[in-house]
Amino acid sequence: MRQKIVAGNWKMNKNLDEAKVLIKELKKELKDGLREDKRVVIAPSFVNLHYAAKKTKKSSIEVAAQNMHQAKSGAFTGEVSADMLTNIGVNIVILGHSERREYFGETDELLAEKVDAALANGLEVIFCFGELLEDRKSGNHFTVVESQVKKALFHLKEEAFKNIILAYEPVWAIGTGETATPEQAQEIHAFVRELFVKEYGNKTADAISILYGGSVKPSNAEEIFSKPDVDGGLIGGAALKAEDFVLIIKSI
Ligand code: 13P
Repeated sequence: MRQKIVAGNWKMNKNLDEAKVLIKELKKELKDGLREDKRVVIAPSFVNLHYAAKKTKKSSIEVAAQNMHQAKSGAFTGEVSADMLTNIGVNIVILGHSERREYFGETDELLAEKVDAALANGLEVIFCFGELLEDRKSGNHFTVVESQVKKALFHLKEEAFKNIILAYEPVWAIGTGETATPEQAQEIHAFVRELFVKEYGNKTADAISILYGGSVKPSNAEEIFSKPDVDGGLIGGAALKAEDFVLIIKSI
């Protein structure tokens, strides 16, 4: 069954003291649990993951990492492996975020390796993709999105997609206050789902959740989430305030 998911990507925000406060507030707000087909995920920084995973264990909040290294272990100073994540109770990882692609040079090929490593270690992947402003202006957005999705994911077997969540995040809408219109989001989501229909068939395509990310706020969430191929959101700035994040969760 396709799931409705609201995930908060905290990026490089919240030290441990601040994370403690936000997690406490979220737990309080969500203490009554969630409907069966709904999921709420938070992705704090690496240093706060252990705390977050422990504190949310008995709640309806799940915890994701924002990145991981593709190797099992070894001399990779400053990096974190899949095993280190699962060992502390983190079972989801965000991969392919445009900030990782842009500032840390992550390529589609590297992301394919990271996806493989994550899945091999039993992690679920939130895989992000999305075009730059210049791609959209030149009308290349479909080509860019298709290439990102195919290069990082289409070597996988059909059953792997049980553990993959997609997130369309147009780069021009991230942190800019400029949201894609619900129609623009729906258009790309339907296009991507169709890529899955062609490659893997209807069953896989229907079951995969496709989240939208980019300036989602309490004021626009409901309209975006009302589109048939939008299965939730990956939220940046608005996930840093419990009140806003909870309003977004409620609007799904
Ligand atoms: P904003 O919601 O701050 O635009 O960020 C979106 C995002 O990049 C989530 O991963």
